[in-house]
Amino acid sequence: MKPFSGLFTPAVVLAAGLFVLPLAASAADAELVNPYAGREDIVEEGGSLLNQYCSHCHGPWAVQGERPRDLRRLNLRYGDYAMSTFYTTVQNGRPPKGMPPWKGILEDDIVWKIYTFLQSVQVED
Ligand code: HEC
Repeated sequence: MKPFSGLFTPAVVLAAGLFVLPLAASAADAELVNPYAGREDIVEEGGSLLNQYCSHCHGPWAVQGERPRDLRRLNLRYGDYAMSTFYTTVQNGRPPKGMPPWKGILEDDIVWKIYTFLQSVQVED
């Protein structure tokens, strides 16, 4: 007789679920590819695109004092999820907080050039 088997099974299912969730999130991250990753020749163009579309809220060259909008802190804030957080936030915005959605307005090409610039100005602390 196994008195605990009835309890054990849901616990295993729950534990497995807890492991599957983060894996699913990182799989989503892996599907995103910045086509300009590591391209130093794109950095300046990306910066001027940011100046054109984003700087009235995020500061010229992303220099901006308010932390929730400081795009130099993406890696620090989000670590491995910096790229997916950036991309999702730019696509969908955060309308209640004043960040407009850019889906259908900015082509991915422009979005990734901006991201490539941002990667060149990330701060360590
Ligand atoms: C009208 C003002 C405005 C414009 C224009 C704007 N943003 Fe934002 N953005 C915000 C605000 C406000 C926040 C902070 C939202 C919050 O508090 O969560 C934000 C947040 C973000 C974040 C998340 C930052 C984080 O650390 O969580 C990203 C990424 C971002 N914006 C990218 C962009 C990009 C790229 C552009 C230009 C294409 C842009 N934004 C244009 C207002 C703006």
